Order: sequence, then C-alpha cells, then structure tokens
Amino acid sequence: MKLSSTLLLLAPAVVAYRLPAGPVAATRLHRLTRPLCTASSPVATAESELMGATPPTLSLLAPAKVNLFLRILRKREDGFHELSSLFQTVSLMDRLDFWSLPADASQPRCSMEVTPDSLGAELIPTDQSNLVMRALDIFAENTGETRRVHCRLHKAVPAQGGLGGGSADAATALHAANRLAGFPVSQEKLIVWGGELGSDVGFFLSQGTALCTGRGELIEPRPPLPARPVYLVKPLEGLSTPAVYKALGLSPGDELDGDDPAELLKSFEEGEGTYVNDLEPPAYEVMPSLQTLRDELRGYGFDAVMMSGSGSTIFCVGEPEEAEWKAKVAEKWEVEIFAEAFCSRGADEKLWYGEE
Ligand code: C5P
Repeated sequence: MKLSSTLLLLAPAVVAYRLPAGPVAATRLHRLTRPLCTASSPVATAESELMGATPPTLSLLAPAKVNLFLRILRKREDGFHELSSLFQTVSLMDRLDFWSLPADASQPRCSMEVTPDSLGAELIPTDQSNLVMRALDIFAENTGETRRVHCRLHKAVPAQGGLGGGSADAATALHAANRLAGFPVSQEKLIVWGGELGSDVGFFLSQGTALCTGRGELIEPRPPLPARPVYLVKPLEGLSTPAVYKALGLSPGDELDGDDPAELLKSFEEGEGTYVNDLEPPAYEVMPSLQTLRDELRGYGFDAVMMSGSGSTIFCVGEPEEAEWKAKVAEKWEVEIFAEAFCSRGADEKLWYGEE
C-alpha cells in the first residue's frame, strides 16, 4: 500500500487537492466545488464519436448511492439474499447524453459510446453487457418504440465500489427512453423493468432515499434525509459483488441474526442513525486491508464510517475532527477520495437528479 511519488489528477467537476511533497502517488483527492446537494455537469461536452457536434436531445445525471444500513436477512432458494437496506443517493454523478434518432430498420435500435476521459474508460463495455444498452433494449422491446437512441456515457462513479454506478446508469437510461418517447410507461413499471436488469436499478428511479427489500428490487420511498457531507474513500482495488456474497457463506434457507431493520430505519428518521452493513465481514475476508483502512478512518472523528454495499468504498459521514486526515490517508493508501453530500431529486417524476 505504500506509495512513491506525487500524482495530481483533475476529475470532472471536482478539483484535486494539492498533496504534500513526499512519498505519495496514485491517491486522487477530489473535493466538491458546488454547493451541497446540487449536482453539476461532470463533463465539458466534447464531440460525440457517433454524433459529431450535433447537440444531445437530452442530458441527465446518474448519482451514486451508499447504504446507510444493509441487513442481510437470509439466503433464498434462488441463490439471492433477502435483504433490508436504506439506500441514499449522493452527489457524485455520471452524466448520460442521449440522442433521439429516426426509425431505421437497417441501423441498430440503440447504441452507446463512452467519453475517453471517463473514469476507467478502457474497461467500460459498449455492447449488450453494458446495462445502459440492456435498459434501452428492454424499453424498446416492451413498448415497440421504433425511434433509435444513442447514448454517450461519461463515467465519474468508480466501478466495483458498492456505489451502484452501473445500476444508476441503467435507471437513467430507462427514464431517458421513457421521456424521449413522451412518458408512455409508468414509474412503477420502469421499476419492475429495472429489477430485471439488476437488484439495485429500481432504487435509482426513487427520489433518493428508499428502504429496499427482497433482493433489493422492492422500493419503499422514504422522506429525504438532510444533505449531510459524506466522503467516499474508494481503494483502487474493487470488490466483486458475487464474491462478497459468497464469502458470507450462507446456504439456502440460512438466516442471519442482527438488528431489526424497522429499528434501524427509525434511528435514521428520528436522529443520527445506526450504521450497519452485514457485508463488511465477508468483504474484509476477501480484502483484509479494507478493514485496516476502515479502522484508520474511524480514528479521524467522523460521525460514522461504514463500507457501502458490497464494497470496496468506505464512506465517512459528517466532518472529521482531524483536519489533516486526507494527507494522512494519502501517505499510506492508494485511494480516491470524493467529497460529496447526500442528495435527492424533486417530487415530480418527470424531473431527474440535479437537472435544471
Ligand atoms: O442483482 P445484481 O446483478 O446486482 O446481483 C449481482 C450478484 O450479487 C448476484 O448474482 C448474486 O450473486 C449477488 N446478490 C445476492 N443477493 C442480492 C443481490 C445480489 O446474492 N440480494
């Protein structure tokens, strides 16, 4: 984990902190340059590979999430785990630009590209293995919509971080396709289609705070929580969700004891909140250094420090007592730090996260 030289990188809509001279290398520190709970476009619009200088028909943002609590209740016969989790969107966002194109049977119904300056651009697929493509497809198949859609994705949310980035992109693509078609499909139906794409997708069609149950696809919207500051500390190494669930070691029918989700929910809605994540122990089994990082972060005086989802991001809520924490972390760890806030979107289903 020891690093060797200084590296400063600019991320879209964020500014890198200047690190002290010394043995510091691949740590990237980002800070919010916009007011809490507002999102700004994370990319200066470059020309599209496919569409050239033609401006997009629609540009939308797709937020990351953290799990304020995540209780695993039992393993089901279908191999998924029954859970109860309070999901909260945060202000770190991907951007998706969409072009609505005339029907043309000789052309693919949907297509996508990734901006070259996207985070991890070279690893992001643009074929059917990308959830954005599958979301656009599922919409066209179910509605018979014949107009084509091209999407340009600008990725700012790290992959394999437990932040739901791919799921948020898919939800945004479903919303965009619906909007471009004049809203023929209800929000409820979009959430069901989202559930077919991935357990977390439907959540991103909520307003930003929701209790998610089942395998994560059953959404109960909750009132927005205050826009508290949250620091996302993402090790360069990610964690695979199936690997973390597997390390939990449950057999079908096995239950996992723990706090009552109803009490946990109450704790967040009435006060400071009791942060719990049942996937921490298996994640630390897969990546033992992550527990050391979590323990170090707990020493800096945040209100709460917890892993998000199946990791590997550790999120820190509130402002720390230790002002120099970022430099201290950067001396030892290869991480990216994003200074963000809890966020939510308006009640109008036709609005979107951070949209003006
Ligand atoms: O639904 P999603 O594609 O996000 O799930 C990825 C994998 O994570 C699943 O194939 C499964 O191994 C695991 N998972 C689980 N229980 C859940 C959600 C995900 O076991 N509730």
